[in-house]
Amino acid sequence: MPGNLERGQQKIEWARSHMVVLEGIRQRFETEKPFRGLTLSLVLHVEAKTAALALALQAGGAEVHLAAGNPLSTDDDPVAALIEAGIDTHAVKGESVADYNAGIAAMLDADPDVIVDDGADLVALVHTKRKAAGRIRGSTEETTTGVTRLRALERSGKLLFPAINVNDAEMKHLFDNRYGTGQSTIEGILTATNLLIAGKVAVVAGYGWCGKGVAARLRGMGADVIVTEIDPVRALEARMDGFRVQRMLDAAAQADLIVTVTGNTGIVGTEHFRVMRNGCVLANSGHFDVEVSRSDLEGVAISHRPVRPHVEEYVFADGRKVYLLGEGRLINLAAGQGHPVEIMDLSFALQALSAEHISKHGRSMTPKVHPVPVELDRAVARAALPAFGIEIDDPTDAQRRYAASWELGT
Ligand SMILES: NC(=O)c1ccc[n+]([C@@H]2O[C@H](COP(=O)([O-])OP(=O)(O)OC[C@H]3O[C@@H](n4cnc5c(N)ncnc54)[C@H](O)[C@@H]3O)[C@@H](O)[C@H]2O)c1
Repeated sequence: MPGNLERGQQKIEWARSHMVVLEGIRQRFETEKPFRGLTLSLVLHVEAKTAALALALQAGGAEVHLAAGNPLSTDDDPVAALIEAGIDTHAVKGESVADYNAGIAAMLDADPDVIVDDGADLVALVHTKRKAAGRIRGSTEETTTGVTRLRALERSGKLLFPAINVNDAEMKHLFDNRYGTGQSTIEGILTATNLLIAGKVAVVAGYGWCGKGVAARLRGMGADVIVTEIDPVRALEARMDGFRVQRMLDAAAQADLIVTVTGNTGIVGTEHFRVMRNGCVLANSGHFDVEVSRSDLEGVAISHRPVRPHVEEYVFADGRKVYLLGEGRLINLAAGQGHPVEIMDLSFALQALSAEHISKHGRSMTPKVHPVPVELDRAVARAALPAFGIEIDDPTDAQRRYAASWELGT
């Protein structure tokens, strides 16, 4: 269904009024026009907060093209507002995989100077279809899974241009992955199911930045949380944070709810479906829809049907039923509203500054995966303090000298 222009403009206005760091950058962009004459292609989850980023880049003089980073994560209302604002936007909620791929292809056809990617689908397309950088000065990458793909490209010696790893900036993963995914994943699950969290056994697969957030929020709402891991350090961290840590086969047999956030594949499959309790709810918040295996689920189940928006019921031969949310796609975007606005303010402020950095310096950077320059990361942190009502101390001269010296000791 086409989006509503007025509602879309209202949603963007609400987001922008809470994205104070990005707004400061937008105002500077409007004066300095760092993207004058440049084309930017963005592949991101298309909703109001992303619209605020697209409009900030446009204010900086860019010709902006935007496509969906996931077939289910679009909010159609802001799309209407973006098109009205002159941003070439290819995104419809629930679009087919063919339309989704056509949207990404349109981003390449726009012949961009800079790419802003989330999951590296556009960068992958450049490397498989065009196999040449063309005008591209570089890209910026939003998420862990995209960085994993970029590093694989870098290792193969095939990466054609520099890519800035926004995900690993402190102001990104410490807040977006942990608190953003923590809150919005629960929101998505609750919106889809309207079920109680308190008193349930909830299994969180993966104790990375996202998993820590999801596990902490589930515990905060009264769930008995079990973590599964493959990394011994993270497994110990989860244990010392107070969670039970088990193998998925053991955990799945007790679970009322399983949430996958590993960035890996095949986390929940046939052997787990065989031991699951009746009524178990399955949700994924990792980037791709490969963490809960739908093909395994369809192999084990004798029937399936939608029972609520974003909820598919699968019935097994022995009568047990399990419920897959949001087709196994990122539940916080499929059924929820994505990350909270203030979180995306931080992530998209970093994206805006990283895109500016690539547009200015991309041609002299090596074709590798680069960190966000530390001064940009710190600038976003500084700019965010007032929005959170925080003032911090400045070190005294004596403290600066002490911290810089090796001579002072006992
Ligand atoms: N839903 C969202 O809005 C959102 C936001 C940010 C990131 N992400 C995505 O979430 C995923 C995780 O991101 P992250 O930043 O937490 O990554 P991370 O690398 O910090 O953590 C992933 C964890 O999963 C563990 N893991 C891998 N395979 C596993 C397996 N078979 N069983 C159990 N644990 C396993 C790893 O050891 C690691 O500790 C990525 O796909 C990322 O792109 C989603």
